[in-house]
Amino acid sequence: MTHALYAHPHLLGIEGLTAAEITAFLDVADGYVEKNRAADKKHPILRGRTVINLFFENSTRTRTSFELAGKRLGADVINMSVSTSSAKKGETLIDTAMTLNAMHPDFIVVRHGESGVVHLLAQKVNCAVINAGDGSHEHPTQALLDALAIRRAKGKIAGLNIAICGDLLHSRVARSNILLLKTLGANVRLIAPSTLMLPHAEQFGVETFYDLREGIKDCDIVMMLRLQLERMNSNFVPSLREYFHYWGLDRGKLAMAKPDALVMHPGPINRGVEIDPDIADDIQRSIILAQVEMGVAVRQAVLEILSHNLANK
Ligand code: NCD
Repeated sequence: MTHALYAHPHLLGIEGLTAAEITAFLDVADGYVEKNRAADKKHPILRGRTVINLFFENSTRTRTSFELAGKRLGADVINMSVSTSSAKKGETLIDTAMTLNAMHPDFIVVRHGESGVVHLLAQKVNCAVINAGDGSHEHPTQALLDALAIRRAKGKIAGLNIAICGDLLHSRVARSNILLLKTLGANVRLIAPSTLMLPHAEQFGVETFYDLREGIKDCDIVMMLRLQLERMNSNFVPSLREYFHYWGLDRGKLAMAKPDALVMHPGPINRGVEIDPDIADDIQRSIILAQVEMGVAVRQAVLEILSHNLANK
């Protein structure tokens, strides 16, 4: 028997998920938030299971939170960081994954620089595959943790005005968030310089703005994105100073949003580039650390729900 509300073996993206499936992850995750604040954080429902974190790109938050999530659920967790220096990255991924698969893991959590390779991987292995970020394509657990942080702070998601601002072009976080937030009924606005706007944004049913002040007017949530310099192969912005002037969130620009608007950022932050440290550290306005906290709970929920659908039960 598969999980009553989520019948798929993997979590590869938010694309294609229903509102009920997304809500199932959020509801289960919500239950883990309190458990993670208690002294005894162990709930060993995954005893005997093995989780392999296979990361071809750097990560602090995502990798450690998957590790904590697995350990708090009683699984054995192995971390593998693989250098991406090889020219044939796709082949390296499949070879490595097949090798690991032969050791009978139950979950492979994978982060890779190429968009879409996690789908290929899922066809080759017989364990559950969780996408921890593939190129500029998707980062489903980040979108789930963002949604949980919003739902807990605002009590709902439907009907909220949510702005996603900055380097949309290179952002898997933005793509997964757009898909999730639209599915749950939020009004999503994308705000970026024209060089960094998401191509074909209209197909997502969002509004687009090319001016930060104008775009965040009356917003409930302002989500800033990191300028992903490592994914830029030419000059998308004139200079970091100029970028901050026009596109960095500071108190003056935030005043255009609703008075109780909350600020988010997936991290890591480029302080003084896309966000003024004064705003990032303001606990009245910023829920950036709540996002990190939700990250562990969401990853526990994903492991728990997928464990119902494992082939070898
Ligand atoms: C994001 C990522 O790696 O996609 N970070 C994260 O998972 N916390 C966003 C980013 O790197 O800017």
